[in-house]
Amino acid sequence: MSVNLNQTNIGLDDPNFQTVFANLQGNILKGHGRDAARHVFFSLGSDEAANRRWIRQLAETVTSMSEQDRQHQAFKQQGKADHLFVNLMLSATGYRHLGVAQTQWPDDQAFLAGMKDVTQRYDTAPRGDHKPTVNPLNDDLSQWETPFTQTIDGMVIFALSGDPATVEQSLDHQVQALKQSLDGIGQIVVVQRGHVMRNDKQQVIEHFGFVDGVSNPKFLFSELNEEYRNGGYSQNDPSAPLSLVMVPDPGGDQSSFGTYVVYRKLQQNIKGFWQRADLLANTLSEKADRKVSPDFAGALCVGRFKDGTPISEQAGDGWTNLFNNFNFDQDADGLRCPFHAHVRKTNPRGDTVRQFNSPPTIERSRRIVRRGISFGDTELNPATEWTDAGLLFLSVQASIVDQFIFMQHTWCNNENFLRGDVGLDPLVGQLQPGQTPESQTWSTGWGSPTADKVSFSFSGFVRTKGGEYFFMPSLHFLKNLPA
Ligand code: HEM
Repeated sequence: MSVNLNQTNIGLDDPNFQTVFANLQGNILKGHGRDAARHVFFSLGSDEAANRRWIRQLAETVTSMSEQDRQHQAFKQQGKADHLFVNLMLSATGYRHLGVAQTQWPDDQAFLAGMKDVTQRYDTAPRGDHKPTVNPLNDDLSQWETPFTQTIDGMVIFALSGDPATVEQSLDHQVQALKQSLDGIGQIVVVQRGHVMRNDKQQVIEHFGFVDGVSNPKFLFSELNEEYRNGGYSQNDPSAPLSLVMVPDPGGDQSSFGTYVVYRKLQQNIKGFWQRADLLANTLSEKADRKVSPDFAGALCVGRFKDGTPISEQAGDGWTNLFNNFNFDQDADGLRCPFHAHVRKTNPRGDTVRQFNSPPTIERSRRIVRRGISFGDTELNPATEWTDAGLLFLSVQASIVDQFIFMQHTWCNNENFLRGDVGLDPLVGQLQPGQTPESQTWSTGWGSPTADKVSFSFSGFVRTKGGEYFFMPSLHFLKNLPA
């Protein structure tokens, strides 16, 4: 059966997709939505047949897209989501340890090299100017936690919602059972514990306190319909073709698709971020004719206020309902939302079309789908810097090089994107170890072309503690590994 991946707005009950969805892992086209997770990183031993057997058994527990939807329907009817959700993904070394033919391996260049290989050259230049770059993410492996510097062959996600105490117990139990099943075959390298944090409106937030997970490409009718009801698409089209995330699985059959996964453990310096935002607010206040609040300064960094209101739309929070229906057409010079703001760097919403006259389809093809979850201490006002808190960043995409690496390297880490001297993304932009960032330029008056500008350096409050590139294969591949 051939599937046209250019399609979007897919009904989960569409008869043309039933075989594909039964074979595709969950959490790709739609987030699993659970409140707590364990990310179990494992390595395999040298007995390839034993490794394949273990993966085949584990595959029986993996949640498909169809099963995820069945669980979701049951949740809606019964009002609780007590179903365990399971994903299984493999790194390039994982494929090697299975001893499968190379023709069955996914072939993304970054996937094959692995995240730890900082000598690999990637072509990350826009518009076809070829300029291969080493270490495009500017990673400093000396900052990584030891387990992430070791070989990681794969990762299992266990995710669950419900009464917190029971959920934690059940997840720990799953990890223990996985550990036992690996006995004599391989070992667990490290386990990351993720948990969703919420504000008083029950919206998902990250550790700096901002609503997170608002803007993501959407593939399914149900999700697009919800976004339509939340404010429409007049300024921003959230729909995306399946090809943004799905690629044919070279190890599967005709109905087999998988996706590439980028995993990054990102530690957040909450105290440092808000101290710097305070200083930025004071610096802006001195020049402006009004008192600038730290919350406003924070919104200049993110591009949204804590409650999700886009700063390109209004100078304060409280933009109810219309979460994602905006673009920067009325702010072409970055006078309301700075060009360096996180959401503008990571989704320029037409800026590159205006600036470089490049087709909108190219900019839209860079989008990634975020499925991360917070980790660590839930205190949003910690007494010290660099507490054990941050984001277990996880994105899915059809190309690691053309989507995630491009976004991080060519947009967030590039001080000259969108224009010269814009500076780094204040949240996640990072330079090569030892390099000093340029200051970004901040306007003292929202939307005013005549307002004074302030030069102020804002970066370095998120650091990478480890990560890996994976492929999340089809269930057909995993369940049919040769005996
Ligand atoms: C600790 C690290 C990070 C934090 C605290 C963070 C926080 C946020 C927040 C608050 C938003 C706005 C709400 C939303 O639209 O969901 C956002 C959006 C986004 N972030 Fe991040 N983020 C982090 C890392 C990253 C990284 C590493 C990337 C990719 C290079 C990234 C890509 C995006 C994208 C694509 C959006 C949506 C932009 C849009 O469509 O408007 N984020 N992030």
